[in-house]
This record gives sequence, structure tokens and C-alpha cells, in this order.
Amino acid sequence: MTILYDSNRGCTACPLSEGCKGPVPAVGLETSKVMLIGEAPGRNEDIKGEPFTGDAGQYLDSLLDSVGIRRSDVLISNVVKCRPRGNRTPTVEEAEFCATRWLDVEVEMFQPEIIVPMGRVAIQHFLGDVTVEHVHGIPAGKVLPVYHPAAGFYDTRLMRAIQEDFQALGKLVNGETQSAPVDQHPDPDYVEYENITGKSFSSGDRPMMAYDTEVVDNKLWSVQASGVTGTAGFFPGMDQPAVKGKAVVHNYLYDAQWIDLPDSTDDTMLMAYLLGLPQGLKELAWRLCGMEMQSYQEIMGDHRRRKGLLYLSEAAKHDWPDPPDLTDVIWIKKDGRLGSVTKKPQHISRKIKRIIADVVGGKENKDGPVNPWTRWHNIDPRERAAVEEQLGKMPDASLEDVDPDTAIRYSCRDADATLRVYQVLWPKIQELGLEFTYQLDRQVLPVAMSMMQEGIALDGEFLGILGRHYMELMEAKAEDIFSLVGKRFNPNSDNELRVLMYEYLGFKPTKFTETGLPKVNKEELSKLKHAVVPMLLEYKHLAHLKDSFCDTLPGKIDSHGRVHCTINVTRTETGRWSMKEPNLQQIPARTEYGREIRKAFVAGPGYYLAAIDYSQIEMRVAAHLAQCQSMIGLFNEGRDIHTETAAQIFNVPLDQVTSQQRYPTKTMGFGVIYGLTPHGLYSQMAQEGLRD
Ligand code: URA
Ligand code: SF4
Repeated sequence: MTILYDSNRGCTACPLSEGCKGPVPAVGLETSKVMLIGEAPGRNEDIKGEPFTGDAGQYLDSLLDSVGIRRSDVLISNVVKCRPRGNRTPTVEEAEFCATRWLDVEVEMFQPEIIVPMGRVAIQHFLGDVTVEHVHGIPAGKVLPVYHPAAGFYDTRLMRAIQEDFQALGKLVNGETQSAPVDQHPDPDYVEYENITGKSFSSGDRPMMAYDTEVVDNKLWSVQASGVTGTAGFFPGMDQPAVKGKAVVHNYLYDAQWIDLPDSTDDTMLMAYLLGLPQGLKELAWRLCGMEMQSYQEIMGDHRRRKGLLYLSEAAKHDWPDPPDLTDVIWIKKDGRLGSVTKKPQHISRKIKRIIADVVGGKENKDGPVNPWTRWHNIDPRERAAVEEQLGKMPDASLEDVDPDTAIRYSCRDADATLRVYQVLWPKIQELGLEFTYQLDRQVLPVAMSMMQEGIALDGEFLGILGRHYMELMEAKAEDIFSLVGKRFNPNSDNELRVLMYEYLGFKPTKFTETGLPKVNKEELSKLKHAVVPMLLEYKHLAHLKDSFCDTLPGKIDSHGRVHCTINVTRTETGRWSMKEPNLQQIPARTEYGREIRKAFVAGPGYYLAAIDYSQIEMRVAAHLAQCQSMIGLFNEGRDIHTETAAQIFNVPLDQVTSQQRYPTKTMGFGVIYGLTPHGLYSQMAQEGLRD
């Protein structure tokens, strides 16, 4: 590969040059039309002195190859020429510093016709403060921003988008012009309507109506509706009629909490999920319809600052009591026991004055002007308590603070965008023959909704007892650990675990945290061969169960004895649901202790809990799609595919397969279908303690 430009070879202008072999020069043909720009060299690139020669490079080659471009036809460079230590992402400052020295000169010198920044760092150098999700694959002048090829290694969902980005590059190179979609209604018509209580929202004879809700202070603030693209109506007030007829929203599970939607309502977020597109309405509206959308933060930023400042100015006028002593529980190392420390913080009045001075003085941090709201909430709640008791909490801005025209324009745009996005997505669903799949998923939305509203009954008292039991087990386990290693330490503290494993027991750390400390998570610990490791893992497992379930779940029980989680149907790669607060799918099932927690979930009076599951559905679907006769044969004979596979992998007779052998085989079977990598399988097994 020809070195294109290596004047940077000896550069030591910034400290990055100290952590690597030296700057990696750009390569390629001077006359190339296309210039590809990565983030920074990795390990391989640093060693070889040539960009994109590692895994990302190989994948880049195959992407280029798939659209008929040879590597030798293009210029390849990086925003940052030196490898940041530990392959971390270079900071914005580092990128700008290096790029203005070298990359910009290269671009100036070789005048490529198509500039292809790959990944966030390179894209932001050319296009400013944008997100990759928003802009990838859409040409902006000479610049075609694309995902970084390596992005797909971490998130296989991105693979499709990456391939499409390179297809777009292929087309550009072949002279096929692609233009970004153009906003068809640059002057939209958004109107406020009088309250329509007593009537109903209806699509009438329009093919489809899009709806959107705005919520302020946990109350419905307005509904917006659009039946004709480029127009929308704004209906203020929380007392809104039911929706009838054909309806579409973006995120049914949110809007249905606030307005009465028909069960047949379409959901553009679900459509985007099925199509592997970004799910944010703003990204979709921009990418599919060329609509510029303001972000909530853009609308609200100034109001947030203003309200925060007013609150603090008011607070500055009062005399506040001396700050409370702040007492925190810590581990007292020299005694090997828990204890407490007491600190005397700076007076709250001084802290308040400090924030005001920074805000008024126009001080900036890396996310823009100083935000009094964030700064205030970074102060320990115990120090803020006196102020909040007297003045109430610092208010956040809401749409109510914005001038009416802006608020209406902002709110109506979402309904307009939903309708326009629907009109693009629905034909795509049809084109791909996904109508049936979509309808299946859509019909489940009202079911998910009622599950969230209904909740599940939980026995909080039982969890309390269990928590105390776990605590006793943890204490006993801790004593066992101390006597095994011959010293006392705080097993809850990562720092002390670090000292134990990497200093006291002398293991060599291999993975480090962002701040450069050796990692002591489950995965890293289980790589270390020592009798204390399984004990520590068991201790951590118990502590996790106690913290995440016994201690937190009871606080989430409502007055009817039930907990309500949030369900997301468009989150996972597998098409399964995800849940949070609490994540009921994470209640452990594989360990004895974990199964105890399940017993806290109970049926309401007169009901039973039943567990119903498809048997190996993914494997059956895969067998069918691949028409794999051996798999189909197994299923038809009612044999267990994971046991059979384990028997072959571990070379043991069928009746001697242990659950220790079956489990990894099962994980691998599902994993292969969903793009599990060898590394992914390894670390899952390591975490389960199933690695040799
Ligand atoms: N990733 C990059 O961003 N650049 C390289 O040169 C290699 C991997
Ligand atoms: Fe020079 Fe760029 Fe390397 Fe810094 S990163 S030393 S600016 S080549």
C-alpha cells in the first residue's frame, strides 16, 4: 500500500504520540476520488504503521468489496494519527487538534470528490455536533457520513445500517446521484383548536389520523392530531375525548397511557423496529421525510436556565443554617470493619453564589453553558434539604413556560411527522412482506399496556425475610473468605477487591476501567484461578439479589400490593420484550437463591400463576428456514436438540450429557442465530463460572 502522505510521521505535537509507536500516515492513491476517514489507529495499525489493518480493516475491505470498490482505489486516513492508549476514543479536543494539523491538510491537498467520515469522531469533524444515527448514509455536499465498520462488532443490529451506508457509497461512486429527502411542507399549517370535550377524535373519511400527546407535570397537557401531511391541530387540556377510526402514533405504549386509543392503532416506532431503522421520531422524520425537528432541549434550554437561576437568586437572599455534618458509611481498612466518616461541607449559601456567578458569567462546560439545574442537583441532597424545605424543589421548565406559538409548533410537528413517517414506512413493510409480522406485534401492544397497568402481586414481607436471610448468608460467606485468604477486607468494595486480587494475591490484571483501575467485575474475576473466586462470586450474587430485589422491590409495591413495570416491545434484537423498573425478566432462575425470589411473586386471590413457554421456538424456526434436515428430524422425533448437540461437541454418549455441558450448548444455539460472537459466548460462560 502506498504511503500517501507522511509528513506527520515525526509529529509529537500532542501527548498522544507518547502512548504509541507514532503517527500512522494516510495511504492510497493521490488521484483517488474517495477518501475514507476513520477515528484513530488501533493496536494493529500502530504496529504496522498503516490505517485499517486490523479486524475493522478486514471488515472495511469486505464492505468495499461488496459494492465493487477496491481498497487500492481509495485514500484511507484517520482523524487522529496516533493511537490513544488502551484504544480509547479520542476526545473532541484531541481530534480537532490533530485534524487541523494533518487531516485538513490532506483533504486540501488531494481534493477528494467524496469524503467518507466513518463513525462519530470523524463525522463530527466534518458535520459538527450531529449524531451518527441522524446523518449516516445521507450525503451532505461532498461528505457521505457512514457508521464505523467496527460499530457492528459491538452491536450487531447496526450491521444492516452499515451495509446500507456502503451501498450508498457504491452508488455515489458510480455517479448515481442520491439526494436527501426534501421536506414537502416547508411552511406547515399548525392550528390551535377550542376544547372539543364531548366530541371524539376521528379519522372521518381520511385514510389515517396521526396523534401525539404532550404531558406536563405528569398530566396530559395537549393532544395533537394530523390527518393531512403538513397540517396539524393542537387541542389543549387534559380532558380529551377518545380516538375513533384509523389512528397512528409514535410509541403506542406511551400515548395510550394518556388518551383512549383504539386497539387497532398503528405504531410507527414498531414499524421502524421491524425494519431495523432508528426508532426516534426525530431521526425518522429527518431521514425519511427531510423534516427538521427541534429537540426538547433546544426548546427548553433557556427556560431551564432562567427558572433555575430565579430559584437560586431567591435562595441567595435567605440566611441558611450551617451545613449539616455529612456522615457516610465506609470500610475502615485498618480495623477490617465497617465504620463512618463525617465531613463538614462548604456552606450552602457559598455554593449557591458560586453557581449564580458561573451562570451569569456565561461559563461554559463541555455540554454548553453551565446548567444551574444540573449543578444544583449535583449537591448532596442533605445539604439542599433546608433550602428545598422552605422554597420547594427547583422547578424544571415545561412547555407551559414556552411562548404559545413555539409550544404549538413544537407539539404539532410530532403529529405531522408521525403521519408522514407512517406514509413512508407502511409501503416498506408491504414491500418486504412484513404485514403479518407487523400485525402480530401490533395486536400485542394493548395486551402489554394492560399488563403494565394491572401489574403483578408481590409479597413484600416475604422479600424482607429473604433479604435478612441473604444478609446472614453473606456474613457467613465473608467470614469463610477472610479465613481462606487470611485477611479481612470489605468484599463490597471494588477497590478492596482490586487490592486483594491484584496486589495481595498477585494476579496480573488484563482489563481496566475507564479511569485505569483493574476491573473486578464478574467476568474478570472468573478468569482468575483461585479458590476464593467462586466464593467471591457467590457473595456477589447474594449481594446482587439482596440489593436489586429484596431491598428495592418492596418500595415499588402500590396500595393494591402490586408492582408495575415498564414494558418495551421494540428494544431487543431477538424480538423479545424488555422490561424495566423492575425488570421482571431478570429475576434469576438458574440458581437456588434466585429461585427463592420468584416465590415472592404471587397470584392475586382466586388466581394462579402459570408459566407458558414455546419449546425451543427459535431453533425450530431456524431449522425450518434453513430446511436443515437433521434438525427437522430431531424435532419431529421429539428429541432434545441441545442435549444432542452437547453430546457431539463434548463427545459423550447422549445419556451422559451433564447440565454443565448442555447449558453452554443451548446458549450457543440461540446465540448463533442472534449473532453471538466467540468472545460473547466466552464471557457469558465465564460469568456463569463454566469456563475451564
Ligand atoms: N479504526 C479506525 O478508526 N482507524 C483505523 O485505522 C483502524 C481502526
Ligand atoms: Fe501529532 Fe496528531 Fe499524533 Fe498528536 S495525535 S502527536 S497531533 S499526529
